[in-house]
Amino acid sequence: MRNLQILLFFVTIFVICNSQTYQPNWPSVNSRPLPSWYDQSKFGIFIHWGVYSVPAFATSVFPSAEWYWYSLTYPKDTDGGATQAYHNKTFGPDFTYQQFAPMFKADLFDPQQWAAIFKASGAKYVVFTSKHHEGFTNWKSEQSWSWNSVDVGPHRDLVGDLTAAVKYAGLHMGLYHSLFEWFNPTYLQDKSTGNPPTQKEYVSEVLFPQLVDIVNKYEPDLIWSDGDWEQTSAYWDSTLFLSWLYTNSSVKNTVVTNDRWGSDCRSKNGGYWTPYDRFNPGKLIGHKWENCYTIGTSWGYNENEPLQEYQSTTALLQAMVSTVSCGGNFLLDVGPTADGVIPIVMQERLIEIGEWLGVNGEAIYDSTFWRAQNDTADELIWYTTNTQTGYVYAISFVWPDSGVLELKAPVASTSATIELIGPNNNSILVSWNMNSNGQGINIKLPTLTPGQTPPFGIYTFRMMGVK
Ligand SMILES: *[C@@H]1O[C@H](CO)[C@@H](O)[C@H](O)[C@H]1NC(C)=O
Ligand SMILES: *[C@@H]1O[C@H](CO)[C@@H](O)[C@H](O)[C@H]1NC(C)=O
Ligand SMILES: *[C@@H]1O[C@H](CO)[C@@H](O)[C@H](O)[C@H]1NC(C)=O
Ligand SMILES: *[C@@H]1O[C@H](CO)[C@@H](O)[C@H](O)[C@H]1NC(C)=O
Repeated sequence: MRNLQILLFFVTIFVICNSQTYQPNWPSVNSRPLPSWYDQSKFGIFIHWGVYSVPAFATSVFPSAEWYWYSLTYPKDTDGGATQAYHNKTFGPDFTYQQFAPMFKADLFDPQQWAAIFKASGAKYVVFTSKHHEGFTNWKSEQSWSWNSVDVGPHRDLVGDLTAAVKYAGLHMGLYHSLFEWFNPTYLQDKSTGNPPTQKEYVSEVLFPQLVDIVNKYEPDLIWSDGDWEQTSAYWDSTLFLSWLYTNSSVKNTVVTNDRWGSDCRSKNGGYWTPYDRFNPGKLIGHKWENCYTIGTSWGYNENEPLQEYQSTTALLQAMVSTVSCGGNFLLDVGPTADGVIPIVMQERLIEIGEWLGVNGEAIYDSTFWRAQNDTADELIWYTTNTQTGYVYAISFVWPDSGVLELKAPVASTSATIELIGPNNNSILVSWNMNSNGQGINIKLPTLTPGQTPPFGIYTFRMMGVK
């Protein structure tokens, strides 16, 4: 009888927790806890793929190839005419952006192969452009007739095929979705009614049905909203959508969102914060956040981007480590070609990141930020901790020639142990002493054989008994 009472008690709690309702206002929507999978994951892959992947062009003046149509139309606001000049020369001035759509063929697209690459990179989630600012949808949207990947171009449900493969590989699947569309006539019509617009036909006829459609069809674990800045969330009806997403949708318990829900929202409303691209504050900010980052300088594939624009694996890992130490997640972008190939240089970076995480992942996944984040002004040593195991990790971007690595922040007990994490699950116990001034540790760096040397010049020390 008593057991039954206890059981009933927990069933009641369970029902209450699962029937949480959220109202369409920011205080209510913001009160929803962030599902834990997101913070635990730390590392995700961003994908920008669309009609812009056909011309695949930008210059360093305005390096975003996925903005091709906008650069073509508004050269003064973007690259001063470089895209227009390239377009005139290559395709002719009469060639419209829409004419690129049939050339978006995706004939080499193999979603299982993409998923395998993402898994090998060590990423735990994927965020794919269901629709960018050009308005072309990578699924068959009823609201985007003849301007979607099933009606033209690939003749394929790219969102559906990739979602299935990514989920099958055991990763979380997210969808990027742009609130506005540069040239959607209904949106432009709304905008012409005033500022703020007095008419919201685009929101009721296009945006809302599309958002509900991708949630119902693909059950994403993450909605990465963007293209928010021209209007406030009152125009976009963002709280109406989010209250439905969190209360009524089939993904209400797992779905995560960001903060790009209107000009009044970034770093304030929604889920985790991503106030601008490549956001990396270098300190704690009291809220979960994400650093969305590019390997080169463009989000969509840019054929005009030289090798020296692509960051090294070491540089990318350093950005990831500093991000995670400060409580952020790292979302690294790839821009596949119109054929559906992830450029080989990007594949290589991802595979190498996976190699490093294969050795050092225990300092990243499921970690939390520590008491101190970094302890040199030149950002060379960063800390994480695992509250389950009690380990504190010092991740160093340097291996001083002096043979001594000084950690300033940790306070060690005399029984503290410090190990260098090495390949093949082999860790090396290192000797250390307390800094003469009482705080800090001097690690005596061991002599390593090639087989003991961690990859990519980033070294993780696992510390026990350190405060
Ligand atoms: C491209 O061609 C159009 C149409 O002839 C012209 O208006 C525009 O100035 C050209 N742009 C450049 C940068 O040459
Ligand atoms: C969402 O769920 C709540 C609580 O169950 C319910 O009151 C509301 O009518 C639902 N809204 C929609 C749009 O289905
Ligand atoms: C940590 O790095 C930041 C820059 O990201 C720097 O401003 C700060 O001084 C560093 N902290 C310490 C204790 O050196
Ligand atoms: C390291 O250990 C983990 C957990 O015991 C195991 O799954 C993994 O295969 C090992 N890796 C190597 C390279 O030996």
